[in-house]
Amino acid sequence: MRRNKLAPVVLLAAVFAAASSPLQAADMAAAKGKAGQCFVCHGADGLAKVPDAPNLAGQNEGYLIKALKDYKSGKRENEMMNAMAKNLSDQDIALVAAYFSGIAITVKAP
Ligand code: HEC
Repeated sequence: MRRNKLAPVVLLAAVFAAASSPLQAADMAAAKGKAGQCFVCHGADGLAKVPDAPNLAGQNEGYLIKALKDYKSGKRENEMMNAMAKNLSDQDIALVAAYFSGIAITVKAP
């Protein structure tokens, strides 16, 4: 399913690349398990499955961690994400950030 037909950047491929991640395979399995609760909106491939959710595939790990901590603390407000983030420990945040940042993407400029 491709929802962002008008996006200037076309994501050609989204492949889960455990090899490029600093996490060990076992940790990456745990990361994927923890990220499972996010897939309904953000996709297992990191490409958003609902129109108002952003793509997370290949996003900078530090950015993801900061965004999730800001949702958790309430510094960044979004009803859905505040509710999701409040149940995540720092360890959970590190795992899901590693998962989504570890998805390899290829882009093509317009
Ligand atoms: C019910 C749908 C839904 C679920 C489930 C969900 N999200 Fe989100 N997520 C959203 C929406 C909508 C936004 C945009 C919020 C905003 O405007 O700030 C968002 C935003 C984000 C952002 C900010 C991205 C950016 O570009 O700034 C991150 C990071 C994120 N979500 C991570 C997660 C993680 C990790 C999980 C699982 C623990 C998760 N989300 C679960 C809907 C969801």
